[in-house]
Amino acid sequence: MLSGVQYNGIDPPPFELPFVNNPDVATENTLKLMEQTPDARKRLIFTSLTRHLHAFMKETKITMDEWEASLAFLNRAGKLSDRGEPEIIMALFGVHPLLEAMNNTSQPNITESAPLGPFFSEHTQEVSNGNSIASEGKGEYMYVEGRVLDTEGNPVANAVIDAWEADDTGHYDLQYAGQTPDCRGRLRTDPEGKFSFRAIVPLAYPATADGPAGDLLLAMNRHNMRPAHLHMVFDAPGYDKLTTQLYFRGDKWLSTDIALGVKESLVVDLEQVDDIERARALGFGRPERGFKLLKKDIFLRKSSDAEGRPGYETTSV
Ligand SMILES: [Fe+2]
Repeated sequence: MLSGVQYNGIDPPPFELPFVNNPDVATENTLKLMEQTPDARKRLIFTSLTRHLHAFMKETKITMDEWEASLAFLNRAGKLSDRGEPEIIMALFGVHPLLEAMNNTSQPNITESAPLGPFFSEHTQEVSNGNSIASEGKGEYMYVEGRVLDTEGNPVANAVIDAWEADDTGHYDLQYAGQTPDCRGRLRTDPEGKFSFRAIVPLAYPATADGPAGDLLLAMNRHNMRPAHLHMVFDAPGYDKLTTQLYFRGDKWLSTDIALGVKESLVVDLEQVDDIERARALGFGRPERGFKLLKKDIFLRKSSDAEGRPGYETTSV
């Protein structure tokens, strides 16, 4: 039976390559082919990757068995791409923080971004300012308040805010049968840009790690925990949409987050409030338990300022 594969029409290069009789010839031959890449940027990347990859294989003296195991690993990861396994593996190797540090994506006066994560959902509940995104009876109370502002400190009214968090067992509503929105809500800023809502203190939780990424973590003796965080998205006409996460100072998983994604500016202090009257006035069902206060102002950038702003919308951890 004829194969459907066709010759791509490219002539052989104007040179012959020596047969490979030692490792260095393998490297030199490959580099010579890579140097034919017409596009300068691609040529740089391909030749550099070849040099580093070959140097890595020589330095570690990769064996045939290890190479075959690596291919099997990559194939397993590829089959789990719908849940972002390749991104998780890259995260384990610190690629995102390195890229961000190299590209200096943080902007003064703008709240920094963080991954959307796999648990965002449009299936949410509308809440008014001051109301709760969490059902009563779970976890430790938290009150979240702040303002959404532009870079000059002017309020951004009517910004749509999505907030979602893991509950007191470290799970999102989407992980339960039925998937009723809970610990998840959508609200809008008032004319002064203010927002506030009741929630619970989210718990740290393990990222999915039953595939190749999980095997890698075990081999590295590394945990698979994300520090506790509150996910938030801010969307207002005329401004760059901001996807971010807020973390809590003192969290033992903070600096070794499986995603290595925590940014200092997104770490907030939770203030313990034991004022029963204040807790009652805010609407907490059991005010005698007090609550944690999270205060955070959010700064958005006007869309017209946004030229080639880097940042990521989705990853899987
Ligand atoms: Fe999360």
